[in-house]
Amino acid sequence: MDSRASSRVQRFGTSVFIEMSRLARDHGAVNLGQGFPDFAGPAFAKEAAVAAIMADHNQYAPSHGTSSLREAIAVDWAGRFDREVDPEREVTVTSGATEAIFAAIQALLGPGDEVVAFEPFYDSYQPSAVLAGATIRPITLHPPDWTFDPDDLAAAFGATTKVLLLNTPHNPTGKVFSLVEMMEIARLCEEHDVVVVADEVYDRIVYDGHHHIPMATLPGMWERTLTINSTGKTFSMTGWKIGFAVGPAPLSAALRAVHQFVTFASPTPFQEAMATSLQTAATTGYYRQLARDYQRRRDALGQALEAAGLPTLPIGGSYFLMADISEAGFADDVAFCRWLTREAGVAAVPPSAFYADPARAPLLARFCFAKQDATIELAADRLAAVRHRLSQPAASSRRP
Ligand SMILES: Cc1ncc(COP(=O)(O)O)c(C=O)c1O
Repeated sequence: MDSRASSRVQRFGTSVFIEMSRLARDHGAVNLGQGFPDFAGPAFAKEAAVAAIMADHNQYAPSHGTSSLREAIAVDWAGRFDREVDPEREVTVTSGATEAIFAAIQALLGPGDEVVAFEPFYDSYQPSAVLAGATIRPITLHPPDWTFDPDDLAAAFGATTKVLLLNTPHNPTGKVFSLVEMMEIARLCEEHDVVVVADEVYDRIVYDGHHHIPMATLPGMWERTLTINSTGKTFSMTGWKIGFAVGPAPLSAALRAVHQFVTFASPTPFQEAMATSLQTAATTGYYRQLARDYQRRRDALGQALEAAGLPTLPIGGSYFLMADISEAGFADDVAFCRWLTREAGVAAVPPSAFYADPARAPLLARFCFAKQDATIELAADRLAAVRHRLSQPAASSRRP
């Protein structure tokens, strides 16, 4: 990096995700690393985008989003959560959840402030905090069920704590926070007058009777919560980068104050298409089918990993599985993922990249199953081919 880059930016470097994607490309690996679907999104979304382009919805949208999409989001909230949301003042469309998280953090935190976040955490949280001059106070989640110590959490709150970042369903662990956990988090945030930035991008992808509970729906929490979501996850259109934030007018105004100078507005035809998609999905059983399809993919990948000698941890939501690599004989998860990409032709992501201190990461690897059945089958074949090497931990070739 150019030495003239700012000292904050110098800290970022190149992420392990970019390294793994490059390695996957170079070795023709099946990429189960990066979290994006390799299958087509729904036809109704694509048709609506084409129609919006042809109808000349091609100029800047209002900065806070098209009225069609903001209204569709408000209808969704009223139907699902029984919460009347004002689409004019309480819904803001952003360029993906990433931008909403960034804007929320810049809006709410300044130099010296602290943000509490459950670790492992999504990779944009830390740089967003650094650019605000703020610091993350990590609360470590412990496998296999990713619980946290309530005393650790209580101790993390202090005079400089301004925000708690909560991601549920959680990437990379697949944890869905329970009502008891959410109530404890909410109690502490009320007591310390802390705002919750709730990253709920996987809210439609939950399994086995798990229920996603939006933080904003707990008693007393609407007034102090900005809920962030991404239509990219729900409609398998991550490249469209249409995300949104829902929250009370004063918090929404703060977020918008940043958003107007980051992207100003998000692409108009894709907003129109997502408005139509939300309306269509509500009446066609789309969400039930989405969860069913992911359950099938989860089970297929889970079986393939188990068969290869990599048992997986249970998940409640999201489209990631964490596999236990502790018996595979590698010093750390980065070494394992490099080896798996090169030697097996299957790319995964080392979860240590999601820790403030990578040394705290348990020996796991994250696999994304937002993939076609054929992709998962190919990965299963390749994993089966290296099964014998995964069960011989002393092999020197596996210690790169
Ligand atoms: C937890 C979490 N938050 C936010 C995002 C970013 O979403 P978007 O692609 O809409 O920016 C992701 C994407 O992987 C994610 O996993």
